[in-house]
Amino acid sequence: AEEREALRAEIKELLAEQNAVLVVHYYVDEDLQILADETGGRVSDSLDMAAFGAEHEAQTLVVCGVRFMGETAKILSPEKRVLMPELHAECSLDLGCPPEEFTAFCDAHPDRTVVVYANTSAEVKARADWVVTSSNALEIVTHLKERGEKILWAPDKHLGRYIRDQTGADMLLWEGSCVVHDEFRADALAELKEKHPGAAILVHPESPEAVVEMADRVGSTSQLIKAATELPNETLIVATDRGIFHKMAEAAPGKTLIEAPTGGRSATCVSCAHCPWMAMNGLVSVRDALKHPEGHEITVDPAIRVKAVESIQRMLDFSR
Ligand code: 13P
Ligand code: SF4
Repeated sequence: AEEREALRAEIKELLAEQNAVLVVHYYVDEDLQILADETGGRVSDSLDMAAFGAEHEAQTLVVCGVRFMGETAKILSPEKRVLMPELHAECSLDLGCPPEEFTAFCDAHPDRTVVVYANTSAEVKARADWVVTSSNALEIVTHLKERGEKILWAPDKHLGRYIRDQTGADMLLWEGSCVVHDEFRADALAELKEKHPGAAILVHPESPEAVVEMADRVGSTSQLIKAATELPNETLIVATDRGIFHKMAEAAPGKTLIEAPTGGRSATCVSCAHCPWMAMNGLVSVRDALKHPEGHEITVDPAIRVKAVESIQRMLDFSR
């Protein structure tokens, strides 16, 4: 505990010295969420992380999350220094959508508007017409459908199917998935619900169809936190990364929060509902990034940036 206190003090000093601010995703270690709140940073979903980083006056953004979040911050603020505790914090959706294959897929369907999830590389965003997050995908796809556009969607197949079912839009889907959410199991969830008949089920739409079908509320991380405060139920079963429990408990004090059951990625997986890449962010790695920035700085090829910024900015303008 003493060691953590010393690290927290050291990080606070480094942030002030370097005119830096913490931008932290809900899935990241709660020590970092607390520190961000204490130092004028932000803890939020992926959409709000992008908007906050772009609007904040700090010269350095310390993005605690996975690589696409750091890249988006850099694309929106090329003049700022963007540091990440761990540059190799990937995302299975990003890894499952390599730019060359994705470009070939787009080229094969030139009549479709290309909509990609924020969980993609800068190169993939550069090829897209629109970027969306789970907070605004429904509205944006509804808007495109009303304009009569046919959509090519990548990379998350579960989110894509959910949006297609909800909107009735013509969507061609890429076959990607999130290693965390793909593990939630409907049969085990039904058993858990029998034990807690009064519980509401909150589900992130990266989860499999059968799990989404059991949900009382489906939404992005910020929407699920809001649902926890709005729904009358005292017990909530939550199908998303368990990092969210820190802010959810803060927002809905006194409620009982239960992790939705997973199938288990491997025999050594203790709690599967936690992203292994989000878990790379901690007090030590943040301190190291601020102290020795070499090897922690996000760069984006300027030629890619000028294209990727268009599809991201289109999303931010739409959501404003
Ligand atoms: P949100 O946009 O809902 O924060 O989700 C980001 C993410 O990585 C979900 O797994
Ligand atoms: Fe990607 Fe899933 Fe991790 Fe989110 S939880 S960053 S979608 S692997």
